[in-house]
Amino acid sequence: MANSRNPRTLPCAFLLISLFFSSSSALFSPSDNHLIACGSSSPATVEGHRVFQPDSTCRYSHLHSYGPRISLSNLADSSLLPSPLHGTARVFPRPASYEFHIKEKGAHLIRLHFYPFSSSEYELSSALFHVLVGEFSLLANFSTSVPVLKEFIVQIDTESIFINFIPAQDNTIAFVNAIEVISAPTDLVLDIGSLVKSGQVEKFEGLSKQAFETIHRVNMGGPKVTPFNDSLWRTWLPENEVSVKLDASDSETKSFSGRINYLESGASREVAPDNVYQTARVMDKSSHNMSWEFSLRPENRYLVRMHFCDVVSMALNEMYFNIYINGYLVNKDFDLSYVTGQLAAPYYIDFIVDTNNSGSLQITIGSSDISKPNWVHGLLNGLEIFKMNKTDVGLDGEIPIGLLTEGMVRRGVGEFLMSLPCGFAFAVLLMALVALVMKWRTESRTSLPLVHLPSVVLEGKSGKGGYQMVSKVEI
Ligand SMILES: *[C@@H]1O[C@H](CO)[C@@H](O)[C@H](O)[C@H]1NC(C)=O
Ligand SMILES: *[C@@H]1O[C@H](CO)[C@@H](O)[C@H](O)[C@H]1NC(C)=O
Ligand SMILES: *[C@@H]1O[C@H](CO)[C@@H](O)[C@H](O)[C@H]1NC(C)=O
Ligand SMILES: *[C@@H]1O[C@H](CO)[C@@H](O)[C@H](O)[C@H]1NC(C)=O
Ligand SMILES: *[C@@H]1O[C@H](CO)[C@@H](O)[C@H](O)[C@H]1NC(C)=O
Repeated sequence: MANSRNPRTLPCAFLLISLFFSSSSALFSPSDNHLIACGSSSPATVEGHRVFQPDSTCRYSHLHSYGPRISLSNLADSSLLPSPLHGTARVFPRPASYEFHIKEKGAHLIRLHFYPFSSSEYELSSALFHVLVGEFSLLANFSTSVPVLKEFIVQIDTESIFINFIPAQDNTIAFVNAIEVISAPTDLVLDIGSLVKSGQVEKFEGLSKQAFETIHRVNMGGPKVTPFNDSLWRTWLPENEVSVKLDASDSETKSFSGRINYLESGASREVAPDNVYQTARVMDKSSHNMSWEFSLRPENRYLVRMHFCDVVSMALNEMYFNIYINGYLVNKDFDLSYVTGQLAAPYYIDFIVDTNNSGSLQITIGSSDISKPNWVHGLLNGLEIFKMNKTDVGLDGEIPIGLLTEGMVRRGVGEFLMSLPCGFAFAVLLMALVALVMKWRTESRTSLPLVHLPSVVLEGKSGKGGYQMVSKVEI
């Protein structure tokens, strides 16, 4: 189409170009955008403009069956922390849940931040717990001694969701430092992919209905891309920061400083940002391969998303290559120009892959017989690997539903509280009131010790008629 001489395509092209300009300048603004700083007493701003609200502010989310909040106390200067979200956490000695209201049904990104630290009372690295969305498991028997950010993509078709934190054993705790619940762009996961099954490639339908956990996100041949530079606040690691066995002696890294031509038919900027498509690992010798081998948890199914953008060829149709997964040829003589019609236009392919018993996943780009000596013989700009759910109980094992307390999944006692403007604040207010009465009673009898209960300050009504709580709540 780009080379067409037909004058009729001109107005059409102009329209496309102006559409492109108008849409590319607009940043993605999700309809659901819950950013919660757990255990914090004040909002935390990260990446310059993302404001995480404290979880004691119940305007956007409810915390049911709350646990104590703790903060890193022995740190002289909190500016030394990688992010303000690392300094506070909410700890749950008993099952607890956050409820989020959902404006727009469909795929959502759920990000859970875990930055274990020790406080006088808790050692977060010894926490052992499960995390569920409703009854669907995201993490089972989870524990971490290093900072991790877990990202999930789940379909939400209810007006609210519960994210449940459940200690795995009687003597263990659960914790979380920050939570993000964000509407995913509608084109983030499309419905059709290519299933690689015993060497054959079949059409896979219903991809958009599955749940995913991000396992790897790599900017091939390029530097780290930080949330600041990503349209969806993701991090893309360079190859040397990922545990991958790279076999690419005949490859080199290339970068491009020109404009990336996002097309309707290809990947959008939300699928991957410019910084990912502007760099690539390219193969400059014919009759060679470059390959990446990942070690994954076996017996799971994975979505492997390969990102391509021809930022190296001198002209269209001057690059052909083969794509192999676990040694199987899944795409022969792939011609990026044919699918995009332009250079520097992003494109991605979704493969659904089962790992073999050892959990090894091998991605190979190999030169094609069609390739000419002075051409580039293959490239890869980015790679994402997502774990998929194999059953409808979750991504990470089955968690006995008996562990979920009434009101966490089903609308039990919680319903009464939730029907109030702000259940949590109401509950605390009620307790404070009881405390006051008790205090008054004990004081009137003088000699008995005072009962020490949380102090709560209510700061008028918030916009939606709920109360906004601003004080420290230590329960
Ligand atoms: C964002 O990307 C630009 C261009 O690649 C780079 O110069 C800058 O350092 C990046 N900023 C952050 C915060 O990563
Ligand atoms: C490239 O890798 C594929 C899949 O493992 C293999 O079949 C092919 O022989 C390799 N080609 C070369 C030139 O090594
Ligand atoms: C799994 O794949 C790896 C690499 O492709 C291979 O070395 C290994 O033998 C395979 N294991 C099984 C059990 O097939
Ligand atoms: C994965 O979970 C979803 C529910 O979130 C379900 O609709 C889907 O069928 C599950 N996939 C498989 C393969 O069981
Ligand atoms: C968690 O670990 C316990 C003890 O090892 C095990 O019995 C249980 O099945 C595990 N639960 C899940 C959901 O993996």
